[in-house]
Amino acid sequence: MGASCALNLAMKEIGDVVLVDIVEGVPQGKGLDMLQSGPIEGYDSRVTGANDYGPTAGSDVVVITAGLARKPGMSRDDLLLANYAVIKNVTEEVVKHSPNAILVLVTNPLDAMCWVAHHVSKFPRNRVVGMAGVLDTARFRTFIAAELNVSVENVTAVVLGGHGDTMVPVVRLSSVSGIPLSELMDKATLDKLVDRTRNGGAEIVKYLKTGSAYYAPAAAAAEMVESILKDKKKVLPCAAYLEGEYGVHGLFVGVPVKLGAGGIEKIYEIKLNDEEKAMLTKSTAAVQELIDVIKTKM
Ligand SMILES: NC(=O)c1ccc[n+]([C@@H]2O[C@H](COP(=O)([O-])OP(=O)(O)OC[C@H]3O[C@@H](n4cnc5c(N)ncnc54)[C@H](O)[C@@H]3O)[C@@H](O)[C@H]2O)c1
Repeated sequence: MGASCALNLAMKEIGDVVLVDIVEGVPQGKGLDMLQSGPIEGYDSRVTGANDYGPTAGSDVVVITAGLARKPGMSRDDLLLANYAVIKNVTEEVVKHSPNAILVLVTNPLDAMCWVAHHVSKFPRNRVVGMAGVLDTARFRTFIAAELNVSVENVTAVVLGGHGDTMVPVVRLSSVSGIPLSELMDKATLDKLVDRTRNGGAEIVKYLKTGSAYYAPAAAAAEMVESILKDKKKVLPCAAYLEGEYGVHGLFVGVPVKLGAGGIEKIYEIKLNDEEKAMLTKSTAAVQELIDVIKTKM
């Protein structure tokens, strides 16, 4: 996933990219391979690889994808303790070398790993953000567009909550060029698409057998990095540290945020109906459970 994201960023000429991995030779080899695509694709981004953080010093943005991915039959939460150790170590190194960076977390279980990175880095909350909602909404938009045979570009969707089976697709606020989904398909079809979105990651894991999705997650993380580095101020669903918003205190949960040069520049609080509030409460409780487990290991 990290390599796909690096290529995506290089091709967009968003900046120079340094790949870091613990496996000797892999980041160097992949970096060189990507660099050599430059003359063909027409980009001048410098892509390099390393097994230590020295060459990353002074990074503006660090995308963290290190850790284990799911295998068939595993939930994201099954990765908790193994990836806790990885994220703790990676965050400590990143803070040492790039104390002013904005962290974009990708590693699962996403909301819990954001919490670890925030806790370990002691960065202000605007500089730690998690990628999940951009991917989840992309999946929902893909399924809606295919069902209606319309362009994916015309479909907008809102997904809140944790990045797991309890995520909350807010159907009421999703539309095709402003036309509410409820006017375009019956409830049974809509429910089917919501369900497929909730299980969108597992559907791919089941096909691949040895790992999880790469391309859409990489594109999603790259969109967030682009919005930050170009100060585009895109409003995107991302995991953000809530301090009272949506009635949540001290947890990362997926909400709409404005992403710009300052990282998370604003958190938008949408008025939810009772059903949506109940789903969000359930989703938040699932995130809290993981944090409680981590706290016992700290
Ligand atoms: N948030 C999302 O929507 C989303 C989407 C896709 C994948 N993911 C998550 O991203 C993570 C990576 O997925 P992947 O498919 O790229 O896995 P992968 O196994 O292909 O790559 C993970 C890499 O991390 C490296 N690594 C392990 N420990 C490390 C450490 N301490 N320091 C540096 N590198 C280390 C491994 O060597 C490996 O190359 C997984 O946790 C996966 O669940 C999240």
